[in-house]
Amino acid sequence: MCGIVGYIGDTQAADLLMEGLSRLEYRGYDSAGIAVLNGNGLDIRREVGKLRNLAKEVAVNAPKGLIGIGHTRWATHGRPTTTNAHPHTDTLGQLVVVHNGIFENYLEIKHELIKDGVIFLSDTDSEVLAHLVARSYTGDLRLAVQVALSRMHGSYAIAVLHQDHPDLLVAARNGCPLILGIGAEENFIASDIPAILNHTRQIIYLEDGDIAEVRQRSWSVFNLQGERQHRDQTTIEWSLVAAEKGGYDHFMLKEINEQPTTLAQTLGGRMGEEEGRVYVDEFGITDEQLRRIRQIVIVACGTSHYAGLVGEYYFEQLARIPTTVEYASEFRYRKPVVDGDTLIIGLSQSGETADTLAAIREANNLGGLTASILNVQGSAMSRETQGTLYMRVGPEIGVASTKAYTGTVASLLLVALHTAQVRGHVTADFVRETLGSLRQVPSWIEETLAEVGAIQDLAAMLHTFRNCLYLGRGVNYPTALEGALKLKELSYIHAEALPAGEMKHGPIALLDADFPVIAVATKSAVYDKTLSNLKEVAARDAVTIALGTRGDERLAEVVDRVIYVPETPEIISPLVNVVPLQLLAYYVATKKGCDVDQPRNLAKSVTVE
Ligand code: M6R
Repeated sequence: MCGIVGYIGDTQAADLLMEGLSRLEYRGYDSAGIAVLNGNGLDIRREVGKLRNLAKEVAVNAPKGLIGIGHTRWATHGRPTTTNAHPHTDTLGQLVVVHNGIFENYLEIKHELIKDGVIFLSDTDSEVLAHLVARSYTGDLRLAVQVALSRMHGSYAIAVLHQDHPDLLVAARNGCPLILGIGAEENFIASDIPAILNHTRQIIYLEDGDIAEVRQRSWSVFNLQGERQHRDQTTIEWSLVAAEKGGYDHFMLKEINEQPTTLAQTLGGRMGEEEGRVYVDEFGITDEQLRRIRQIVIVACGTSHYAGLVGEYYFEQLARIPTTVEYASEFRYRKPVVDGDTLIIGLSQSGETADTLAAIREANNLGGLTASILNVQGSAMSRETQGTLYMRVGPEIGVASTKAYTGTVASLLLVALHTAQVRGHVTADFVRETLGSLRQVPSWIEETLAEVGAIQDLAAMLHTFRNCLYLGRGVNYPTALEGALKLKELSYIHAEALPAGEMKHGPIALLDADFPVIAVATKSAVYDKTLSNLKEVAARDAVTIALGTRGDERLAEVVDRVIYVPETPEIISPLVNVVPLQLLAYYVATKKGCDVDQPRNLAKSVTVE
């Protein structure tokens, strides 16, 4: 999704803007631009495609000036072209605007402005704001932005620069992330922390409805009525190295390999093995409320949704609470049955996914209890739910989610164990035993990562196929879904996942020698049934690959290839079993020469509905 950077200080702005934008590349984009106030007016540069195209243009004749704004655009309204790239100007070219989000009523206002004689140069909804600010401007830029925004409906993070105000950046947010970075003799705005972490660790999270005035040595925040707001500064502890590749070819590979560490972070301080209990107070739902709830609804998208399906299994099996997992994008359009005894859990790495946020808001409106499991601190969803359990896996830069998946699943298991214990369905001994197994997960994942050679061989064989079917059962059906999502989003190979028993009810018709099947067939309560399903596949000449438990010779007799993982308790197995499937998708994609960290058409945080 789009990225915004702004700078005011005593250094050439263009350099800092380009650096900041490069650190936001992970968000996904298809064009980029910067605008710098150079003493005579605005110097604007925009290019389609990768940031290097803009960097080339800037390198030839860099805009000179100490204040500027920059933007990476992920097209929503209008194709990825230079004229649609941000920043956008007003008709006189006196001000520029960058925008992340969608102005839902832009057409109505655009028509009104066209009637007044305004000529639009782009197809974007964002350009409307530039003209609207110009029309409201009478010398006070913040006030003009405030008046203009009061006309716009929708989500936004914006930054505005005016040639009459070489000492002022105006920024605002509603529904899209935006932070201020406070430096010495310089200040920043950005969509996300890595953009400015090289220069400051002092951050202010803007809230929905905030408008900030940012100057070289000061900043102030107002609401949309012009009243001053108090905002606290936060010190960021993340190292920049943690947000960079750390020696791996891609962020994604680094993030897959980080999982033993990130899971230890997720679990750290939350496992009371001696007492046989779990500490998840930040989740924000009291024991009394946990005893009272009659149903759980998990809302999430993509990978987070699949993690939620594992959570469904946990809440039902352990806590005996009816649980459903909803696509967040569907939830509020189907008149969900929610009351004060319904717990709605939002799952999101970014905490900014528009569909999940909208579902949580709907749940709040309906009077449900809401909580979230998130990764990005201070993100919008944390402010809209009663409590947030952070998965603590650190910045996830690769567009394809990996460590956030395992972080979410582990967090769900902790919450489900606690809920089950509070409701009297599991004993302290059971909790102690499960926590003991959870403690071993980092080393089980280390063992699994060591299978990389076998996975690379498999990838070399698989990368020429055009379709692939994943099978799983029980708690590992979501593992199959997540494996298929990883393969399709990274390698563009069509991949689907089915509960293994469902295959014979139709999809088996697809199978032949050109349609490989990958099954999660580790030891579990449904192992024998999965083995029978695999025999059905093998009889159709399909190449059969299975994820099996180390030492399982029987499986090797049925399928063509086996990737072995360590034996784990079934309840824990999704945390380990997904890892080889992440690696497989990664190596198939790199074998095909695909851009694994930024697959085509994808964005890291989908902040539009
Ligand atoms: O930030 P979120 O967890 O809310 O994001 C949800 C999905 O957009 C995300 O998981 C997406 O499916 C990833 N590309 C999957 O790798």
